[in-house]
Amino acid sequence: MRLFVALEIPSSVRENLADLLRSLRAASPQTRWVRPENLHVTLKFIGEVSEAKSSAIRYALAGVRSEQPVTLDFRGLGFFPNEKHPRVFWAGIAASPNLKILAEEMERATKKLGISPEKRTFSPHLTLARFEPPRIAEQLRVAIQENGAHDFGSLRTNQFHLIKSKLKPSGAEYTTVKSFPFAAAEA
Ligand code: 2AM
Repeated sequence: MRLFVALEIPSSVRENLADLLRSLRAASPQTRWVRPENLHVTLKFIGEVSEAKSSAIRYALAGVRSEQPVTLDFRGLGFFPNEKHPRVFWAGIAASPNLKILAEEMERATKKLGISPEKRTFSPHLTLARFEPPRIAEQLRVAIQENGAHDFGSLRTNQFHLIKSKLKPSGAEYTTVKSFPFAAAEA
């Protein structure tokens, strides 16, 4: 099975981004847009693993903890690797410092199980679209610039989720395998 670890976003943020995606899709229907229900914040991509490895991963992830919940503010739009060669179009995230520490702990825990560590520096984002080839239509570039409201809301959570991804011709289908509370819930 193909697995990754992610944070779920609140419905308010999802709705704000769905509005944005609706207007951008109109400017560029041929772009591979992420479906709003699939939006998530990836913390660790695990990839294809066996059933036995997946239970070891679940056990390891249960030990990943933080003193506090994490806070994320979703704002801004941008491109990976850059605007000139856009492969990924994303909504930005300003996060509390413990999010990076949490992701590093996940890297450590999964590396011990033989999962390849992420080579890129941790840069939390919400992928909104993927470009293959890495080019963006002028009409879409203009639509992105003209879309003024780039503040999508915020999230405070004490849980991350192990998610199974099934790749289908119609797009990825995600199912939550297990949720992990990593800090005490706030009153
Ligand atoms: P991203 O979209 O947040 O950048 C589930 O497939 C998630 O895992 C994707 O949303 C993507 O994160 C990340 N992902 C997919 N394939 C990957 C790969 N080969 N290496 C790293 N991350 C990957």
